[in-house]
Amino acid sequence: MLPLQIAENIYDVGVQDWAARDFHGYKTERGATYNSYLIMDEKITLIDTVKASFTEELLANISKVTPLDSIDYIVINHVEPDHSGAMPALAKACPKAKFYITMQGKNEAIQHYGDIFDFEVVKDGATLNIGKRTLTFASMAMLHWPDSMATYSEYDKILFSNDAFGQHYATSKRFDCEVNQDELFYEAKKYFANILWPYAKLIGNALKKLGGLEIKMIAPSHGVIWTEHILDILRCYSEWGSGVQDGSLVIAYDSMWGGTEKLARAIARGAANAGVVVKVFKMGATPNSTVAAELFTASGFLAGSSTLNC
Ligand SMILES: [Fe+2]
Ligand SMILES: [Fe+2]
Repeated sequence: MLPLQIAENIYDVGVQDWAARDFHGYKTERGATYNSYLIMDEKITLIDTVKASFTEELLANISKVTPLDSIDYIVINHVEPDHSGAMPALAKACPKAKFYITMQGKNEAIQHYGDIFDFEVVKDGATLNIGKRTLTFASMAMLHWPDSMATYSEYDKILFSNDAFGQHYATSKRFDCEVNQDELFYEAKKYFANILWPYAKLIGNALKKLGGLEIKMIAPSHGVIWTEHILDILRCYSEWGSGVQDGSLVIAYDSMWGGTEKLARAIARGAANAGVVVKVFKMGATPNSTVAAELFTASGFLAGSSTLNC
């Protein structure tokens, strides 16, 4: 069976990591995906790769559409290993492929894998004609690494956004409109809180940059593809980036013999009686990444530590 065609001659050749539960400290209760997109134009182009342990599956997916050695260009939007892990195998399997990458990305890739690639370094706004399509590269520096960029296909009106707009959410359905909306937006929020929150002040500028583009699809490197809820996720990013608060109170505590817990519960009751939405987390029993998802939109935060061995 051919990989899913997400737009005219563009195939979803990435992988689902159903078993992922810990993404370098981020608890991924719904798994993860590493998305990669194959564009079959006059010049055959791959956008992003996958985590190294899924290399074989990526190569198999591509091979169902086109021979590996037919790939002309590989765009590396970001070198963190969840997206670049298959680069060395691709360099071998696709001998004529040129790797399009930022200067920071090139330096990092060489450190990770050695100087084994045919690189073409691209700057913000650079373009690459691949036939019917012209791809435009847009720097997304510090969203969330110095090398991060996005790639836009004007012909398709698709933004290949890499980590931005992602969710750690493994599903057999690949589009936003096909999945449970509460799950999707919770995972998008949790992802923003854990991956992009430290750089939230940069989101406004990035959105301004993207604001000039006509976008019919946002194809991120994690999770489902945005089609019907593009405006919703852009609005969420705008709010989250500007530090919107939802009026809630987060109480995060731990307790050795129950004293701090009693205090946390008493404060929670009092605040709830006063009409405040309260979210209480015992830290020893809750992943930090779950608390972060609630904390970054909270209006208040109380931390409670045990007084023994604190
Ligand atoms: Fe990343
Ligand atoms: Fe990533």
